[in-house]
Amino acid sequence: MGKLDNKIAIVTGAGQGIGAAIATKLAADGAAVVVTDINEDTAAATAQKLGSGAIGLRTDVADRESVDAMIDKVVAQFGRVDVLVNNAGWDKAEPFVDSEPATWDRIFQINLYGQLHTCHKVLPIMAAQGYGRIVNIGSDSGRVGSSGEAVYSAAKGGVIAFTKTIAREMARAGITANCVSPGPTDTALFASIGGEKLREALKRAIPLRRLGQPEDLANAVAFLASDEAAFITGQTVSVSGGLTMS
Ligand SMILES: NC(=O)c1ccc[n+]([C@@H]2O[C@H](COP(=O)([O-])OP(=O)(O)OC[C@H]3O[C@@H](n4cnc5c(N)ncnc54)[C@H](O)[C@@H]3O)[C@@H](O)[C@H]2O)c1
Repeated sequence: MGKLDNKIAIVTGAGQGIGAAIATKLAADGAAVVVTDINEDTAAATAQKLGSGAIGLRTDVADRESVDAMIDKVVAQFGRVDVLVNNAGWDKAEPFVDSEPATWDRIFQINLYGQLHTCHKVLPIMAAQGYGRIVNIGSDSGRVGSSGEAVYSAAKGGVIAFTKTIAREMARAGITANCVSPGPTDTALFASIGGEKLREALKRAIPLRRLGQPEDLANAVAFLASDEAAFITGQTVSVSGGLTMS
Protein backbone atom coordinates (compact mmCIF):
# COMPACT_ATOMS: atom_id res chain seq x y z
CA MET A 1 0.00 0.00 0.00
CA GLY A 2 1.42 3.36 -1.04
CA LYS A 3 0.26 6.55 0.58
CA LEU A 4 -0.82 7.92 -2.82
CA ASP A 5 -2.53 4.81 -4.19
CA ASN A 6 -5.32 5.64 -6.67
CA LYS A 7 -4.37 9.33 -6.77
CA ILE A 8 -3.91 11.29 -10.00
CA ALA A 9 -1.00 13.74 -9.70
CA ILE A 10 0.20 16.44 -12.09
CA VAL A 11 3.80 17.69 -11.75
CA THR A 12 4.97 20.67 -13.84
CA GLY A 13 8.58 21.09 -14.97
CA ALA A 14 9.08 17.38 -14.29
CA GLY A 15 11.43 16.56 -17.16
CA GLN A 16 14.53 16.95 -14.98
CA GLY A 17 15.86 18.11 -11.62
CA ILE A 18 13.56 18.49 -8.63
CA GLY A 19 10.41 17.95 -10.71
CA ALA A 20 11.64 14.59 -12.04
CA ALA A 21 12.49 13.50 -8.48
CA ILE A 22 9.01 14.56 -7.31
CA ALA A 23 7.35 12.63 -10.14
CA THR A 24 9.45 9.56 -9.29
CA LYS A 25 8.58 9.71 -5.59
CA LEU A 26 4.84 10.27 -6.16
CA ALA A 27 4.80 7.29 -8.54
CA ALA A 28 6.71 5.15 -6.01
CA ASP A 29 4.04 6.08 -3.44
CA GLY A 30 1.34 4.77 -5.78
CA ALA A 31 0.10 7.81 -7.76
CA ALA A 32 -0.57 7.86 -11.49
CA VAL A 33 1.68 10.76 -12.47
CA VAL A 34 1.22 13.23 -15.30
CA VAL A 35 4.75 14.40 -16.10
CA THR A 36 4.58 17.80 -17.78
CA ASP A 37 7.39 20.00 -19.04
CA ILE A 38 8.00 22.63 -21.71
CA ASN A 39 10.55 20.12 -23.03
CA GLU A 40 8.48 17.37 -24.65
CA ASP A 41 11.40 14.92 -24.86
CA THR A 42 12.36 15.07 -21.18
CA ALA A 43 8.69 14.87 -20.13
CA ALA A 44 8.28 11.72 -22.22
CA ALA A 45 11.56 10.22 -20.98
CA THR A 46 10.69 10.78 -17.31
CA ALA A 47 7.21 9.30 -17.79
CA GLN A 48 8.69 6.28 -19.53
CA LYS A 49 11.08 5.66 -16.62
CA LEU A 50 8.15 5.72 -14.19
CA GLY A 51 6.36 3.02 -16.16
CA SER A 52 2.73 2.04 -15.97
CA GLY A 53 0.19 4.73 -15.21
CA ALA A 54 2.50 7.68 -15.97
CA ILE A 55 2.11 9.88 -19.02
CA GLY A 56 4.31 12.68 -20.37
CA LEU A 57 2.83 15.86 -21.85
CA ARG A 58 4.41 19.03 -23.22
CA THR A 59 3.08 22.03 -21.31
CA ASP A 60 4.34 25.60 -21.12
CA VAL A 61 3.06 26.87 -17.76
CA ALA A 62 3.51 30.46 -18.93
CA ASP A 63 0.88 29.87 -21.63
CA ARG A 64 -2.67 29.55 -20.27
CA GLU A 65 -3.91 27.76 -23.40
CA SER A 66 -1.18 25.14 -23.09
CA VAL A 67 -2.08 24.61 -19.40
CA ASP A 68 -5.81 24.34 -20.15
CA ALA A 69 -5.22 21.82 -22.94
CA MET A 70 -3.04 19.66 -20.67
CA ILE A 71 -5.55 19.65 -17.80
CA ASP A 72 -8.46 18.94 -20.17
CA LYS A 73 -6.50 15.91 -21.43
CA VAL A 74 -5.84 14.69 -17.89
CA VAL A 75 -9.51 14.97 -16.93
CA ALA A 76 -10.56 13.21 -20.16
CA GLN A 77 -8.12 10.35 -19.48
CA PHE A 78 -8.26 9.97 -15.68
CA GLY A 79 -11.52 11.69 -14.71
CA ARG A 80 -10.02 13.69 -11.83
CA VAL A 81 -7.01 15.58 -10.48
CA ASP A 82 -6.07 14.83 -6.87
CA VAL A 83 -2.63 16.40 -6.62
CA LEU A 84 -1.07 19.37 -8.39
CA VAL A 85 2.62 20.11 -7.87
CA ASN A 86 3.66 23.45 -9.35
CA ASN A 87 7.37 22.92 -9.79
CA ALA A 88 8.31 24.55 -13.12
CA GLY A 89 10.68 27.45 -12.57
CA TRP A 90 13.37 29.49 -14.24
CA ASP A 91 15.83 32.26 -13.42
CA LYS A 92 18.61 34.33 -14.92
CA ALA A 93 21.03 35.48 -12.23
CA GLU A 94 22.29 39.06 -12.56
CA PRO A 95 22.38 42.26 -10.48
CA PHE A 96 18.96 43.91 -10.49
CA VAL A 97 20.32 47.19 -11.86
CA ASP A 98 21.67 45.36 -14.93
CA SER A 99 18.45 43.44 -15.64
CA GLU A 100 16.01 44.13 -18.47
CA PRO A 101 12.22 44.36 -18.14
CA ALA A 102 11.84 41.61 -20.78
CA THR A 103 13.67 39.27 -18.38
CA TRP A 104 11.41 40.34 -15.50
CA ASP A 105 8.39 39.41 -17.61
CA ARG A 106 9.77 35.96 -18.39
CA ILE A 107 10.65 35.30 -14.74
CA PHE A 108 7.17 36.34 -13.57
CA GLN A 109 5.43 34.44 -16.36
CA ILE A 110 7.09 31.14 -15.51
CA ASN A 111 7.49 31.31 -11.74
CA LEU A 112 4.32 33.15 -10.66
CA TYR A 113 1.83 33.25 -13.56
CA GLY A 114 2.59 29.58 -14.26
CA GLN A 115 1.20 28.69 -10.84
CA LEU A 116 -1.78 31.05 -11.24
CA HIS A 117 -2.62 29.41 -14.58
CA THR A 118 -2.58 25.83 -13.29
CA CYS A 119 -4.38 26.65 -10.02
CA HIS A 120 -7.08 28.70 -11.76
CA LYS A 121 -7.89 25.72 -13.97
CA VAL A 122 -7.48 22.93 -11.40
CA LEU A 123 -9.08 24.42 -8.26
CA PRO A 124 -12.68 24.30 -9.60
CA ILE A 125 -12.10 20.65 -10.60
CA MET A 126 -10.80 19.83 -7.11
CA ALA A 127 -13.63 21.78 -5.48
CA ALA A 128 -16.21 19.76 -7.45
CA GLN A 129 -14.49 16.57 -6.21
CA GLY A 130 -14.40 17.91 -2.65
CA TYR A 131 -10.73 16.91 -2.51
CA GLY A 132 -7.39 18.29 -3.60
CA ARG A 133 -3.76 18.77 -2.67
CA ILE A 134 -1.78 21.70 -4.06
CA VAL A 135 1.97 21.79 -3.44
CA ASN A 136 3.71 24.87 -4.82
CA ILE A 137 7.47 25.01 -5.13
CA GLY A 138 8.71 28.33 -3.81
CA SER A 139 12.26 29.24 -2.93
CA ASP A 140 14.05 30.44 0.17
CA SER A 141 15.01 33.46 -1.97
CA GLY A 142 11.34 34.42 -1.57
CA ARG A 143 11.70 34.29 2.21
CA VAL A 144 15.13 35.81 2.86
CA GLY A 145 16.28 37.28 -0.49
CA SER A 146 19.18 36.17 -2.70
CA SER A 147 21.78 38.38 -4.37
CA GLY A 148 21.48 38.27 -8.16
CA GLU A 149 17.91 36.99 -7.94
CA ALA A 150 15.85 40.10 -7.14
CA VAL A 151 12.97 39.56 -9.56
CA TYR A 152 12.93 35.77 -9.08
CA SER A 153 12.79 36.37 -5.30
CA ALA A 154 9.84 38.71 -5.82
CA ALA A 155 8.02 36.08 -7.90
CA LYS A 156 8.75 33.34 -5.34
CA GLY A 157 7.61 35.61 -2.50
CA GLY A 158 4.43 35.95 -4.53
CA VAL A 159 4.13 32.15 -4.73
CA ILE A 160 4.36 31.90 -0.94
CA ALA A 161 1.69 34.56 -0.35
CA PHE A 162 -0.56 33.17 -3.11
CA THR A 163 -0.37 29.69 -1.58
CA LYS A 164 -1.50 30.99 1.83
CA THR A 165 -4.47 32.76 0.30
CA ILE A 166 -5.71 29.84 -1.80
CA ALA A 167 -5.29 27.67 1.33
CA ARG A 168 -7.75 29.99 3.09
CA GLU A 169 -10.16 30.29 0.17
CA MET A 170 -10.30 26.57 -0.66
CA ALA A 171 -10.16 24.94 2.79
CA ARG A 172 -13.90 24.37 3.01
CA ALA A 173 -13.80 22.61 -0.37
CA GLY A 174 -11.49 19.93 1.06
CA ILE A 175 -8.39 21.34 -0.62
CA THR A 176 -5.07 21.99 1.10
CA ALA A 177 -2.33 24.20 -0.34
CA ASN A 178 1.23 24.31 0.91
CA CYS A 179 4.56 25.58 -0.29
CA VAL A 180 7.83 23.65 -0.32
CA SER A 181 10.71 26.07 -0.39
CA PRO A 182 14.05 24.69 -1.58
CA GLY A 183 17.36 26.06 -0.44
CA PRO A 184 20.35 25.59 -2.78
CA THR A 185 19.74 22.27 -4.53
CA ASP A 186 22.04 20.36 -6.84
CA THR A 187 20.34 20.77 -10.24
CA ALA A 188 20.96 22.33 -13.65
CA LEU A 189 19.24 25.52 -12.44
CA PHE A 190 21.65 25.84 -9.53
CA ALA A 191 24.62 25.18 -11.85
CA SER A 192 23.43 27.99 -14.13
CA ILE A 193 23.37 30.44 -11.22
CA GLY A 194 26.32 29.53 -9.02
CA GLY A 195 29.74 28.19 -9.90
CA GLU A 196 32.03 25.85 -7.98
CA LYS A 197 33.05 28.66 -5.59
CA LEU A 198 29.48 29.28 -4.50
CA ARG A 199 28.86 25.55 -4.14
CA GLU A 200 31.85 25.19 -1.76
CA ALA A 201 30.92 28.32 0.21
CA LEU A 202 27.37 27.05 0.63
CA LYS A 203 28.55 23.65 1.83
CA ARG A 204 30.35 25.46 4.65
CA ALA A 205 27.38 27.71 5.43
CA ILE A 206 24.65 25.05 5.41
CA PRO A 207 24.35 23.53 8.93
CA LEU A 208 23.86 20.00 7.50
CA ARG A 209 27.01 20.57 5.36
CA ARG A 210 25.77 19.71 1.88
CA LEU A 211 23.61 21.03 -0.93
CA GLY A 212 20.07 19.73 -1.22
CA GLN A 213 19.44 16.81 -3.55
CA PRO A 214 16.23 16.68 -5.63
CA GLU A 215 15.06 13.69 -3.54
CA ASP A 216 15.16 15.81 -0.36
CA LEU A 217 12.49 18.05 -1.87
CA ALA A 218 10.51 15.14 -3.29
CA ASN A 219 10.09 13.56 0.16
CA ALA A 220 8.59 16.76 1.59
CA VAL A 221 6.28 17.17 -1.41
CA ALA A 222 5.04 13.57 -1.20
CA PHE A 223 4.19 14.04 2.48
CA LEU A 224 2.23 17.25 1.85
CA ALA A 225 0.47 15.61 -1.11
CA SER A 226 -0.71 12.70 1.03
CA ASP A 227 -3.48 12.23 3.58
CA GLU A 228 -0.83 12.14 6.32
CA ALA A 229 -0.79 15.94 5.88
CA ALA A 230 -4.58 16.30 5.93
CA PHE A 231 -4.51 18.93 8.72
CA ILE A 232 -1.66 21.01 7.28
CA THR A 233 -2.50 23.92 5.00
CA GLY A 234 -1.10 27.35 4.15
CA GLN A 235 2.38 26.41 5.35
CA THR A 236 5.82 27.05 3.90
CA VAL A 237 8.36 24.30 4.52
CA SER A 238 11.98 25.11 3.82
CA VAL A 239 14.09 22.15 2.75
CA SER A 240 17.49 23.76 3.01
CA GLY A 241 19.69 21.77 5.39
CA GLY A 242 19.05 24.49 7.97
CA LEU A 243 20.49 27.35 5.88
CA THR A 244 17.27 29.27 6.50
CA MET A 245 15.31 29.00 9.72
CA SER A 246 12.26 31.21 9.83
N1 LIG B 1 17.88 24.27 -7.64
C1 LIG B 1 17.78 25.16 -6.68
O1 LIG B 1 18.77 25.52 -6.02
C2 LIG B 1 16.44 25.77 -6.36
C3 LIG B 1 16.37 26.62 -5.26
C4 LIG B 1 15.14 27.21 -4.95
C5 LIG B 1 14.02 26.91 -5.72
N2 LIG B 1 14.12 26.08 -6.79
C6 LIG B 1 12.90 25.82 -7.56
O2 LIG B 1 12.72 24.44 -7.73
C7 LIG B 1 11.98 24.20 -8.94
C8 LIG B 1 12.71 23.19 -9.81
O3 LIG B 1 13.98 23.72 -10.17
P1 LIG B 1 15.23 22.81 -10.59
O4 LIG B 1 16.36 23.25 -9.75
O5 LIG B 1 14.85 21.38 -10.63
O6 LIG B 1 15.47 23.40 -12.06
P2 LIG B 1 15.78 22.71 -13.47
O7 LIG B 1 16.16 23.83 -14.37
O8 LIG B 1 16.69 21.55 -13.30
O9 LIG B 1 14.33 22.15 -13.90
C9 LIG B 1 13.28 23.01 -14.20
C10 LIG B 1 12.35 22.33 -15.18
O10 LIG B 1 11.29 23.25 -15.47
C11 LIG B 1 11.08 23.23 -16.87
N3 LIG B 1 10.49 24.49 -17.32
C12 LIG B 1 11.11 25.70 -17.48
N4 LIG B 1 10.25 26.59 -17.97
C13 LIG B 1 9.05 25.96 -18.10
C14 LIG B 1 7.78 26.36 -18.56
N5 LIG B 1 7.55 27.60 -19.01
N6 LIG B 1 6.77 25.45 -18.55
C15 LIG B 1 6.99 24.19 -18.13
N7 LIG B 1 8.19 23.74 -17.71
C16 LIG B 1 9.21 24.63 -17.69
C17 LIG B 1 12.44 22.97 -17.49
O11 LIG B 1 12.35 22.49 -18.81
C18 LIG B 1 13.03 21.98 -16.51
O12 LIG B 1 12.72 20.65 -16.87
C19 LIG B 1 11.84 25.58 -9.61
O13 LIG B 1 10.56 26.12 -9.27
C20 LIG B 1 12.93 26.40 -8.96
O14 LIG B 1 12.64 27.77 -8.98
C21 LIG B 1 15.31 25.50 -7.13
